[in-house]
Amino acid sequence: MILLAIETTCDETGAAVLEGTEPLRGSVPRILSSVVSSQVGLHRRFGGVVPEIASRAHVREVVPMIDEALKRAGLGLRDVDAIAVATRPGLVGALVVGLTAAKSLALALDVPLIAVDHLEGHLYACQLAHPDREVYPCVGLVVSGGHSSLYACRGPLDCELLGGTIDDAAGEAFDKVASLLGLGYPGGPEIERAAKSGNPKAFRFPRSFLREPRLAFSFSGLKTAVLYALRGQNEEKGAVEPSPQLTADLAASFQEAVVDVLVAKAQQALEQTGLKRLGVGGGVAANGRFRDKLTAAMDAMGVELFIPPLSLCTDNAAMAGVALLKLAAGQVADLDVDVAAGLVRPKRQA
Ligand code: KG4
Ligand code: ZN
Repeated sequence: MILLAIETTCDETGAAVLEGTEPLRGSVPRILSSVVSSQVGLHRRFGGVVPEIASRAHVREVVPMIDEALKRAGLGLRDVDAIAVATRPGLVGALVVGLTAAKSLALALDVPLIAVDHLEGHLYACQLAHPDREVYPCVGLVVSGGHSSLYACRGPLDCELLGGTIDDAAGEAFDKVASLLGLGYPGGPEIERAAKSGNPKAFRFPRSFLREPRLAFSFSGLKTAVLYALRGQNEEKGAVEPSPQLTADLAASFQEAVVDVLVAKAQQALEQTGLKRLGVGGGVAANGRFRDKLTAAMDAMGVELFIPPLSLCTDNAAMAGVALLKLAAGQVADLDVDVAAGLVRPKRQA
């Protein structure tokens, strides 16, 4: 079974080709090719993703990415047995581009179309990266520019949202604080670099909900605290250029606060669910301090930790390989399936 997967939820246009055999028996699909066209350069001067620019770039890139993925897999469109596409959550205009490409191909090739949840895909990337290990059941943590969400996953297609951010996502906070500090975009790698020569204890920044059992994140107060530390509460607005040492200390203290909260909430989710595995996805998982503290915390709890390599952590189409399980379970989409911007909420919050 050859699956062509398409990803256009945010600012990366991705296409991948996977080969699957007997997914319901636990066989993990093989990634034959996976290509991504990043739009980071287009959004850099705005300090964040501009939805309209993202949609237009997807329109330009989606067909070349599909061609490239097939070429690298040594296959043609006629070899494709099914098409998968992430239809939620994400930027609506961006999602529509991928879905339209997927529907067109499914119709033209007369093959099934499978709609996947981008966050289920992020967590399934842990399984793709570790085909010989059992990842599920697990707690899932997705930390990216658009998401900071915790899930209880009984299986790849059975992930219940436990909680998420009530304002900014973790990666978004990195991006915004980097911008405050005059660092580049995306902010995560820039903050991490600056933090290396800083003191994480120089500023005691807020860690929202840390001692509460509630599985929620909030990063906007932290961002404001960095702003006040940078220029004082009462000063006039305007560009403030911190010294390199102050920048480093602010970056290190900010990073420490985010990491402490992410690790603590993952621990709480594991305690509350009784699960013994943690799968992580999203670009923030590239952060070395986060990886180190999470690894130590999981070791101490006896929890098995899964963090895919960066190419599978950040947005990519291969993770939509979870579609092969859906296909085997008969979960095929109709051609009138639509996109959705938001997360699938647990029933009690619906
Ligand atoms: O998953 P991703 O590539 O795209 C989506 O947002 O879906 O994640 C990008 C986010 C950005 O906000 C970026 O600043 C953050 O991940 N990021 C990092 C690091 N590398 C990327 N955050 C902290 N430390 C990093 N090293
Ligand atoms: Zn993502």
